[in-house]
Amino acid sequence: MSLLIDHIGELTTHDPELGTLRDAALVVEDGRVAWVGPSASVDRGADEVLDAAGAAVIPGFVESHSHLVFAGDRAEEFAARMAGESYEAGGIRTTLAATRAASEGDLGANLVRLAAEYRRQGTTTLEVKSGYGQTVADEERSVRIAARHADDTTLLAAHVVPPEFAGRADDYVRLVVEEMVPAAAPHARWIDVFCERGAFDPDQSRAVLEAGRAAGLGVRVHANQLTVGEGVRLGVELGAASVDHCVHLADADVDALAGSDTVATLLPGADFSTRGPWPDARRLLDAGVTVALGADCNPGTSYTTSMPFVVALAVRELRMTPAEALWAATAGGARALRRPDVGHLGVGARADLVVLDAPSVIHLAYRPGVPLARTVLKDGRRG
Ligand code: NIG
Ligand code: FE
Repeated sequence: MSLLIDHIGELTTHDPELGTLRDAALVVEDGRVAWVGPSASVDRGADEVLDAAGAAVIPGFVESHSHLVFAGDRAEEFAARMAGESYEAGGIRTTLAATRAASEGDLGANLVRLAAEYRRQGTTTLEVKSGYGQTVADEERSVRIAARHADDTTLLAAHVVPPEFAGRADDYVRLVVEEMVPAAAPHARWIDVFCERGAFDPDQSRAVLEAGRAAGLGVRVHANQLTVGEGVRLGVELGAASVDHCVHLADADVDALAGSDTVATLLPGADFSTRGPWPDARRLLDAGVTVALGADCNPGTSYTTSMPFVVALAVRELRMTPAEALWAATAGGARALRRPDVGHLGVGARADLVVLDAPSVIHLAYRPGVPLARTVLKDGRRG
């Protein structure tokens, strides 16, 4: 099956040779981009034609950071925060109790509902983390559910110290290392840890990440979200594909990132919903760090599935240009997941793309909150 997308007003390819094209066309064959170029010179023999009628076309968003295996919500906690309470991550335990009590079917249905929200708004690659189970059986169940419904799966057993291990964090880390990693590794591609005051310290984080790595998992870290700490440098040292949040950075963190191929993943939806400070995207970009953007959908700090909203925040609050923000939310996410086949529309890439209800990518930030994903294709297909 081949598909011609014709009369594209503005085509963002993120391909270094092709760049951004006007009056363009794109041909999909067998789910991959087969041809990109001027509309005037395209071969019109495709099986099917989609007329973009002057609209902008972008690569599908690549969400490299979400927590979708959970039950319940924390609307009251959000309202209390908006009334002045601060975010301390203790609410994770509320979700822990609800998730443990939920059936596998209900957890899967909630994930599918949220993944569909992501898709409707243009996300075509989705990573999902565990982390609200925190027993061997519940973490294994969480990664199994995630692997069934998402493109990529991360074991975040070391999210907080669960209540039954209060004051015994090292015992919990031992359980993660000795039992949870082996039980979950067959269903996951990544290991993650919340390296933060009140969660896991650098030694505990290292133990978890090294155990994951020894089991064949790639490394990613929740780092420097609430305080300056050692998470970013630990991630870089261990060859992490990405370190996520990066709100509180020392110069040494920026230097370490700039000299590595670890991506700094910024999650401004979490900073919005916790009323925290914004990460300094310009400092990272100016230092040559690869920056990704994610929505971080979770019931505590960022209950949004909207990558366009995140792009709008990145432009308005993080002072990224619309082009930088779009790159970070697509190609940046792809780097963070080490997926060279997505996040761009060069020849050979997966035909994961969005036809916008807009003439240019600037509209993603210029028209915040407006559903601009007119047609979303994954592997060249709708739905
Ligand atoms: O990415 N920081 C840790 N994990 C989540 C929040 C989890 C929660 O509060 O439920 C995050 O922000
Ligand atoms: Fe997170």
